[in-house]
Amino acid sequence: MRIGVLTSGGDCPGLNAVIRGVVLKGTAVYNQEFVGIRDGWKGVVEGLTMPLSRHEVRGLSKQGGTVLGTSRTNPFDGPHGGPENVQATMNRLGMDALIAIGGEGTLAAARRLTDAGLNIVGVPKTIDNDLDATDYSFGFNTAVEIATEAIDRLRTTGDSHRRCMVVEVMGRHVGWIALHAGMAAGAHGILIPEQPKSMEQILEWVNSANDRGRAPMIVVSEGFTLDTMETPHSEKGLDAFNRPRLGGIADVLAPIIEQRTGIESRATVLGHLQRGGVPSAYDRVLATRLGMAAIDSVMDREWGTMVALRGTDIVRVPFAEALGGLKTVPQERYDEAAVLFG
Ligand code: F6P
Repeated sequence: MRIGVLTSGGDCPGLNAVIRGVVLKGTAVYNQEFVGIRDGWKGVVEGLTMPLSRHEVRGLSKQGGTVLGTSRTNPFDGPHGGPENVQATMNRLGMDALIAIGGEGTLAAARRLTDAGLNIVGVPKTIDNDLDATDYSFGFNTAVEIATEAIDRLRTTGDSHRRCMVVEVMGRHVGWIALHAGMAAGAHGILIPEQPKSMEQILEWVNSANDRGRAPMIVVSEGFTLDTMETPHSEKGLDAFNRPRLGGIADVLAPIIEQRTGIESRATVLGHLQRGGVPSAYDRVLATRLGMAAIDSVMDREWGTMVALRGTDIVRVPFAEALGGLKTVPQERYDEAAVLFG
């Protein structure tokens, strides 16, 4: 078989390790041929490819980003989109199957294409860890490591000045990155989208830490809302899938904290730092295993499924099931962390 591989949606540490896992097992064990598709679904629609042999994936598992490039293109959009056109491009390029590595938008598109008869398997990726069908997604561990190190660093400057530091992390509509990085770094308050809070509650945590002689550290998810807000803070418009681009809630909270407590406060938005650079060892291993499992799925012609982590096993999940729900932080996980706030 000649198998196309694409990465689509936002990038994520570990994408290259998946690509390497697919190609190494696919060539060494199954003797298959691979073609790299450039820039996600855009490459499928426009027929943009690059060679993807064992040679091209050498040393790739430690490299951040994606060598294939990515975009947020929807393969159903535009005059060249839709299943017939995608199948025609695959035929022209001599491709028998596709491995699509991406988040919810990518996998939803893959599902629609598979329903129309195309040969596709999926590999989930997201730093947000918000896909219900997999216990963890690669990229999440790296994002947490980066955020934790950043919070540790911000604590030393906060301590020196006796300031309140408010650190904003990514995660879209779930609080996994904030919960894990905040716990790891010993934050005095963690604010996540699943748990709207009042300003009074936040001030109580800040004052309590300050009263004990600590420089308060508040970790906030970009999707957090105060109990007075209808929707998460968004001032950058919409993304390609018409979703509000989040970010900036830390800049809203810090001045209120300063004004209401008299404690000098600073906001830091970590942003895309959390997606850049080398993947952690955990993510390299998970991504490599998922890549190797994806080529197994192709060889078994398990179209319309994605690979996922359950416990320590890699399993196959139908797209229909995989796209069922958002994995939010359960109440008990938040309550457990909240015991240490203030
Ligand atoms: O889904 C991953 C993510 O990094 C979110 O945490 C964040 O809200 C979003 O993507 C940012 O998207 P972009 O890279 O398009 O600004």
